[in-house]
Amino acid sequence: METILVTGGAGFIGSHVCVELVEAGFRVVVIDNFVNSTPEALDRIASITGERVHFMEVDMTDSGSLDEVFLTYSIDAVIHLAGLKAVGDSVINPLRYYLNNLSSLLHLCECMQKYHVHRLVFSSSATVYGPPQHVPIKETHPVQTENPYGRTKHMSEQILRDFQRSYFPMKIVILRYFNPIGAHPSGLIGENPTGVPNNIMPYMTEVAIGKLPVLQVFGNDYPTRDGTCIRDYVHITDLAKGHVKGIEAIDSMEPSVAVYNLGTGEGTTVKELLHTFEHVTETKIPFTITDRRPGDVAVSYADVRAAERELGWKATKGIEDMCRDAWRWQHRNPAGYVKN
Ligand code: WQD
Repeated sequence: METILVTGGAGFIGSHVCVELVEAGFRVVVIDNFVNSTPEALDRIASITGERVHFMEVDMTDSGSLDEVFLTYSIDAVIHLAGLKAVGDSVINPLRYYLNNLSSLLHLCECMQKYHVHRLVFSSSATVYGPPQHVPIKETHPVQTENPYGRTKHMSEQILRDFQRSYFPMKIVILRYFNPIGAHPSGLIGENPTGVPNNIMPYMTEVAIGKLPVLQVFGNDYPTRDGTCIRDYVHITDLAKGHVKGIEAIDSMEPSVAVYNLGTGEGTTVKELLHTFEHVTETKIPFTITDRRPGDVAVSYADVRAAERELGWKATKGIEDMCRDAWRWQHRNPAGYVKN
């Protein structure tokens, strides 16, 4: 049984990746520092899968913190998800994002070389594409990052390419996420932002349960079919399965570093998402149209053929599933992760 180290495994993406890894027959070791997650998520993974993941509390920015992990477990591959990811916050605190996201990666690469662990799946983001020159967006689209968070992701991708060139045994799969939303169908794990959510789905589910009064729709004067922004929303369990496919495909990969978009290839406007949510949850979402949010792009959706062709991965769930599952998580966990 292969052992996979999942950094940030207690987070929104991480907890869903751990569930899919366990169910695919892998042994899972999680490291997390709970800066944006909670230990309760690890209990919920056990409730879903019937298996407890191995865990060590580690701050990856602390050099030397990872040695104990690699000495304790015989790791076969790493899925690196740990990182700060709020675009707006990264503009306010750029140094925190550069220090955290880049030093964590550098310490991880040093340890992988030191302990001869040669397979890495890295969490990147469609935000590296910036305002697209054309859609659907292919992996070969120029990178034009517009915020410190996106720049940490692009810099990380460059670090990984240089690292692999200097250490040829490395095989690296870079996954560029479009908009992961939804939750595991059990309703036991889901998106659990601290404070007022930045992203639309957790904001909308908090409006739906009455925690927030109204959804602000950031602009309806974009050049789209209904004036609101278009995004490629992808179900979090589909996205998580994409990581398992990445691990399974990595050894047979031709190039030693490969980039894949994880999306559905479909674009949905904010209004379409809102109306779908209202329809499947039979709830009303009061909203107001406000000014555009700085930095938003009008249209973003993925060309997903490479992941399908080379990883054998394709999203299976639609917007209705995403809305229904996000609602179930929020409805059952109105205060987020509270100890059972
Ligand atoms: C989606 C749409 C908003 C909130 C971000 C990051 C990206 C990735 C995913 C990390 C946009 C609109 C939103 C609200 C709204 N994160 N919106 N009212 O900005 O596409 O992507 O999250 O990897 O890097 O950039 O996602 O959910 O914030 O916004 O109208 O209260 O919803 O304008 O059109 P985004 P989002």
